[in-house]
Amino acid sequence: MDGPAIEAEGLVRVFKKTRAVDGIDLVVESGEIYGFLGPNGAGKSTTVHMLTTLLPPTAGTARVNGYDVVHQGPQVRSSIGAALQEAALDPLLTGREHLRLQASLQGMPHDIRRRRADELLHRVGLSEAGDRKVKTYSGGMKRRLDLALALVHSPRILFLDEPTTGLDIQSRTALWDEVGRLTRDDGVTVFLTTQYLEEADVLADRVGIIDHGHIVAEGTPDELKASVGRPTVEVVPLDAGEHERAAAIIARFGDPCGSEHGVAVRLRSSEADLAGIVRALDAENLKVEQLQLHQPSLDDVFLAKTGRSLEGAAEEEEGERGGLAMEPA
Ligand SMILES: Nc1ncnc2c1ncn2[C@@H]1O[C@H](COP(=O)(O)OP(=O)(O)OP(=O)(O)O)[C@@H](O)[C@H]1O
Ligand SMILES: [Mg+2]
Repeated sequence: MDGPAIEAEGLVRVFKKTRAVDGIDLVVESGEIYGFLGPNGAGKSTTVHMLTTLLPPTAGTARVNGYDVVHQGPQVRSSIGAALQEAALDPLLTGREHLRLQASLQGMPHDIRRRRADELLHRVGLSEAGDRKVKTYSGGMKRRLDLALALVHSPRILFLDEPTTGLDIQSRTALWDEVGRLTRDDGVTVFLTTQYLEEADVLADRVGIIDHGHIVAEGTPDELKASVGRPTVEVVPLDAGEHERAAAIIARFGDPCGSEHGVAVRLRSSEADLAGIVRALDAENLKVEQLQLHQPSLDDVFLAKTGRSLEGAAEEEEGERGGLAMEPA
């Protein structure tokens, strides 16, 4: 495909008085993992619903795989797979039955359906649970089945709305690996929403931070972090009487800034020269109790842009216990 995988211009969605999405512009290149990071109610799902043709925009335009989401719905839908936040699964069907049904809806020949179902169950770690009814699945297992369903027709573009919410750490990491593999090996473009800073940081090539229906910051995780400030280095001297001497030494590396227990500088470059600092302290024979590097986080970015911290909203939810860990692909 030529051109970007996803493009939106001035996308708006109003519900009665709520401007859930309030003028979003974005471009997601083919093969990219784009992370849409924001707190509850920011407008993430509403954006996904418009891009996947489930909800018409109030204003603005969007193209997915080059097709207009309003006027070319069928073409958009055949280009994409979507695992939505509210998975629509039938509790009385098994995982395997869901996959075969989806494969037949996609018009796959009978013998291929079966193989595809086995392959996808294995890929998301549900081989053993494949013949159990979905009503016996944990929340995490349902998320994984939903991902498998989105992959049945090998879509070029994948939408994942909070794919790891409620997963235990192990399943979350396995899902990250799987998403990484899909982009790396199959060239799939992924648009993923998340409330987890770490997820956006680890997984996304580029991140858009959304708040109150607006994209408030966008860039690679490193660019975003660098935009709020350079890393700081904090030194706590072993001897409390040495604070001034320590401050003078580390001042060679950056500009003095506040520190609770010792002395600190904001480094001049974003490349931390920790070894240089250690050598300088050592050369002056200054004994150190603690030396710490603080990198700005995506939460610092969120705070700088919105005045609020995302960390509280992104608290780990109670993970699924006892679910199967995903099997490696
Ligand atoms: N069908 C609807 N009718 C009315 N208001 C809605 C509807 N869907 C969403 N909203 C409102 O639009 C805003 C954005 O909701 P949305 O579901 O897009 O947020 P989100 O970023 O996906 O949040 P979450 O992280 O909780 O899933 C919220 O204020 C929500 O209450
Ligand atoms: Mg949502």
